[in-house]
Amino acid sequence: MTVRILQFGVTGQLARELLGQAKDFDVEITALSRAEADFADPQSVVARLQDAKPDLVILAAAYTAVDLAETEPELAFRVNAETPAAIAVALGQQGSALVQISTDYVFDGAKGRPYVEADAPAPLNVYGASKFEGEQRILAVCPRALILRTSWVVSSHGKNFVKTMLRLAGEGKSLKVVDDQFGRPTAARDLARFILSQAERLSKAPAGDAVFGVCHFANAGEVSWKGFAEGIFDLALGANAPTVGASATADWPAPAVRPMRGTLDTTKLENVFGVTPRPWREALVEVVAELQSEQRSAA
Ligand SMILES: NC(=O)c1ccc[n+]([C@@H]2O[C@H](COP(=O)([O-])OP(=O)(O)OC[C@H]3O[C@@H](n4cnc5c(N)ncnc54)[C@H](OP(=O)(O)O)[C@@H]3O)[C@@H](O)[C@H]2O)c1
Repeated sequence: MTVRILQFGVTGQLARELLGQAKDFDVEITALSRAEADFADPQSVVARLQDAKPDLVILAAAYTAVDLAETEPELAFRVNAETPAAIAVALGQQGSALVQISTDYVFDGAKGRPYVEADAPAPLNVYGASKFEGEQRILAVCPRALILRTSWVVSSHGKNFVKTMLRLAGEGKSLKVVDDQFGRPTAARDLARFILSQAERLSKAPAGDAVFGVCHFANAGEVSWKGFAEGIFDLALGANAPTVGASATADWPAPAVRPMRGTLDTTKLENVFGVTPRPWREALVEVVAELQSEQRSAA
């Protein structure tokens, strides 16, 4: 059975990977860009659902500017909570299944151990609070919704840590990277392939099925930003990798406070879906190889 998917978001990291990987799965994706469905305007987005009768809706559009959100809270909440909630109300009535992506930033990072789905969120910043409100409002009205929390998303496109680190290394600057914040890097491709691999199951599962509710997805392995930077340089630059100095979060005052250790536990993913995400280093190999091949073709 070909699963008919309506996807919000076209240009983002996850959105592009969903579209790029779809060929390997029995799915047909219709994707709407911001110009076609602006999440700043909930009613116009809901109007897009009226004629579509998708088996599954994937929200790959989100307000992701973590620092900027501190000065644009109203917009962040509209895009990350109000519009997803309005979509969920419509889907709750229509009966279609929904996948929303959330974040490790719903947690305050003070637990001292990886977070399981049953842990109470306590976001430290506006972005995290807007995503958590989105989760709650969706789950309150749409019984066939899967909220996938993920962390430290990277790919060969868009803005992300891998691209920033390689740009800085290319500029030959001495590098100091935060060594006291920990998490699990996640390839947008792995997340996309997981969602697509579950599309048929999600589209058929009845309300109350274990596939719905909150679940964590992140590549395996906990690391600090400094350790992640070293892993990136090791893969991309080998013997020419620059030395990375350690710095503390306190050395980089930013508008939004980040969790120190928002690491996600993925045991539920393994139990419910039978999926064990591969180590982040393995996933990173593909991201780095793609960036290097793009660089070679541009040269
Ligand atoms: N990136 C991370 O490290 C990270 C970590 C944890 C969780 N997540 C979550 O994972 C999901 C995917 O993240 P990502 O990294 O793919 O994000 P991304 O690369 O920043 O892409 C965000 C997407 O949302 C769209 N968008 C933004 N504002 C919009 C609006 N008002 N109306 C419609 N579309 C809008 C963007 O479109 P334009 O190109 O037009 O701006 C873009 O397609 C998000 O839900 C995010 O919260 C991300």
